[in-house]
Amino acid sequence: MNYKSISQEVSGYSSDNVIELLKKSLNIHWQQTTVLTAQAVHLDRWGYKKLAAVIKADADQEHEHAAANIKRLEFFDIDYQPLTVSPKTWTRHDMVAMIKYNLESVREAAAAERATITAARAVGDELTANMMIPLLQGSEDGIELYESYLKLIEQMGLDNFLTLQV
Ligand SMILES: [Fe+2]
Repeated sequence: MNYKSISQEVSGYSSDNVIELLKKSLNIHWQQTTVLTAQAVHLDRWGYKKLAAVIKADADQEHEHAAANIKRLEFFDIDYQPLTVSPKTWTRHDMVAMIKYNLESVREAAAAERATITAARAVGDELTANMMIPLLQGSEDGIELYESYLKLIEQMGLDNFLTLQV
């Protein structure tokens, strides 16, 4: 069996730059999956059930995005191991810090996703660009969400915001 025929060779189809960006997006998404999963449990435990549900749904979506990156890396038969997922520490029991942490994370993800789309299109790898668009949409939705939370806190005060999240 000719193994070359069962996967797409990167050279001539995509570029090493695109592959590195796919790996970067994968790593960011695993970081988000672990952090958001933990935050959802934390928020639920401390009574913020509504916000916990939103964060849990976001964790599930980031898990799916991680899988989308893996699927594309598998298409090119790229080994992305060893995988080291090492997110920065988020602060427990500090709602504003948590929201700012998540906002920074989705901004980082969006930057990597935009870079991947640009790099993929530059070498004619349209399917990587297309695969990345829903991920960028998810990140931009996240930016909107966390910015709106910060605005609400600024306008109604933290205590009122927290009351809404119970
Ligand atoms: Fe995502």
